Amino acid sequence: MGIRLLGAGMYLPEKVVTNEDFTKIVDTSDEWITKRTGIKRRHISQGEYTWSMGLKAAKNAISNAKIDLLEIDMIIVTTISADFAYPSMSNVIQGKLGAKNAFGIDICCACAGFVYGLDMAQRYIDTDSNIKTVLVISSENVTKTVDYTDRSTCVLFGDGAGAVVVTKSENQAYSYLGADGTGAELLYSHLYPANNGFTDENVALENAKAFPNETGRYMYMDGQEVYKFAVNAMPDAMEKACEKAGIRPNDLDYIIPHQANIRIIETAVKRMNVDIDKVFVNIQETGNISSACIPVCLTQLVEQGKVKSGDKVGMVGFGAGLIYGAIVLTV
Ligand code: COA
Repeated sequence: MGIRLLGAGMYLPEKVVTNEDFTKIVDTSDEWITKRTGIKRRHISQGEYTWSMGLKAAKNAISNAKIDLLEIDMIIVTTISADFAYPSMSNVIQGKLGAKNAFGIDICCACAGFVYGLDMAQRYIDTDSNIKTVLVISSENVTKTVDYTDRSTCVLFGDGAGAVVVTKSENQAYSYLGADGTGAELLYSHLYPANNGFTDENVALENAKAFPNETGRYMYMDGQEVYKFAVNAMPDAMEKACEKAGIRPNDLDYIIPHQANIRIIETAVKRMNVDIDKVFVNIQETGNISSACIPVCLTQLVEQGKVKSGDKVGMVGFGAGLIYGAIVLTV
């Protein structure tokens, strides 16, 4: 058994920050950002909680799916930018929605989160006859994890949320998930320091040898190493997911890559041997919104009438972990 898409939805905060706006706070230019990343604008939360953005995207997806809230059996939320250590965002959103029959799980799979969430939805639907309809929400406030005095990271990210409702179907979704945890120290941000009333400074110094804390609570990123990983990992995952589906990447009707950098997308797509006009790109308008990138693109693809029932859409992500994954979904 597999899954099919009942509805997709999204939410992007109203505030738009242009490259020109960044020239007022860091030493950068529209030319540099456009040429090196493809980004022109990004939507930025002005203090709105991550769960609130996720809730809005979920309501949009449920309305497009035309289902009753009580039909939702499970809610999966993917995020790297939760509001709380606990409770989970899926529990908060379940309560705010009133989806009383659903249980919830949050997963942190960085920018590949939505692919992992869809994969998980199918596995629950496949193995538990009580679970037929799953709401997958990817909601991100990435900008709160970024230092707005660091020009090499702050220009790259935006905020927003995307969501889908999927249900049991005969069409299996084929996925390939992978990780290279040796790259964990290339991209991270710290949560709470491991401090308490009995903290030993020597232990704290030992901790700092891995994952140094020079950036405080903000993101540390080795951009060039992440770039090298991404241009190999994305085609690798897409090829392997397609192999399981018995097709080649170019047989897909559409490909949605994670929107981190237009140069990464172009290189990865070339390596996949895929026609560029099959690739959906909105990075110029959103920047990198981590796990929300792919479901926002999927919603726009559906809204623009570019996919019809039965089309095969390949989605592929990568991110902190280092993590990667691809999924082929029949919509
Ligand atoms: N404006 C102007 N100059 C900038 C800049 C900015 N916003 N950010 C960095 N620079 C400068 C650097 O300081 C450096 O200057 P120098 O040569 O005087 O030292 C120069 O530009 C080149 O920096 P470099 O890091 O080599 O640029 P790059 O071409 O690798 O692009 C990234 C940087 C971050 C855009 C690119 O490496 C990237 O996209 N990496 C992947 C990151 C990613 O995908 N992260 C998310 C994973 S989900």
